[in-house]
Amino acid sequence: MSTVMNKATDYLNKQIDNDENNAAKLAGARGTAAVNTKLLLQNISKVYGDGDTSVQVLDHISLEVKAGEFVALVGPSGAGKSTFLSIAGALLSPTSGQIWIGNQEISQLPEKKLNQIRLDKIGFVFQSANLIPYLSVIDQLILIGELAGKSRRESHAKAEKLLRELGLGHRLKHYPDSLSGGERQRVSIARAWMNDPEIILADEPTASLDSERGRAVVEMLAAEVKQRGKAAVMVTHDHRMLDLCDRIVYIEDGKLSEREL
Ligand SMILES: Nc1ncnc2c1ncn2[C@@H]1O[C@H](COP(=O)(O)OP(=O)(O)OP(=O)(O)O)[C@@H](O)[C@H]1O
Ligand SMILES: [Mg+2]
Repeated sequence: MSTVMNKATDYLNKQIDNDENNAAKLAGARGTAAVNTKLLLQNISKVYGDGDTSVQVLDHISLEVKAGEFVALVGPSGAGKSTFLSIAGALLSPTSGQIWIGNQEISQLPEKKLNQIRLDKIGFVFQSANLIPYLSVIDQLILIGELAGKSRRESHAKAEKLLRELGLGHRLKHYPDSLSGGERQRVSIARAWMNDPEIILADEPTASLDSERGRAVVEMLAAEVKQRGKAAVMVTHDHRMLDLCDRIVYIEDGKLSEREL
């Protein structure tokens, strides 16, 4: 790997254990999650801060997402949507509760194992695109492929294909600061697809896209979920996207409720 890639690896603080037996070793706990359940959150609470300034954002919330299910998460600003998605994606620890990714409960796993699970199983599209400033568009994706153990050649081919599909074929060598907000968001979507994750978590993926492109991205997400039996949760404020989802869950005052489509 080039120096810049090494630096990026440090930046992401990924400590990958390439042991092939990882999956077997990790597959310890097997319990309440049903066979076709991809993601299960049970009794999740999240309190930020402590003492007088503490805020309870999530209050014993549960959600199950099955293979082939595309869930929309809606609710007012500050209700805890990003918090909930970050917990589902193993980026943030809950104050209490359990998280199952496939058949594995992850809340007690060490950081190194969580990194591996994030890389292999979860595609995260952040509310802000979260790109690495000193990597070109294509290198953002190649890095993710290489971290998951793919060759550079294979990663390059996959990255280029994805970026072309998202209309970024002419921006492969550009750096994030020379892209528009919508272009950055599309890079972040392509990056989430890179390792063919079983679970896709997207935080307002269409926020900086025009309505036509926004719809195309969500259609692509829905097709991926249906055709390949993935599970997806998408935070959105855009009600025009909801017809593409299977379920709508509403979050307010720390609680989740199902809404009619
Ligand atoms: N690191 C943090 N420390 C303290 N409070 C936080 C932290 N992150 C978020 N919060 C608070 O938790 C609440 C939920 O935030 P969150 O970002 O999950 O909301 P959201 O539903 O995603 O909002 P938006 O629609 O505006 O993105 C907010 O009141 C926010 O101020
Ligand atoms: Mg948010």
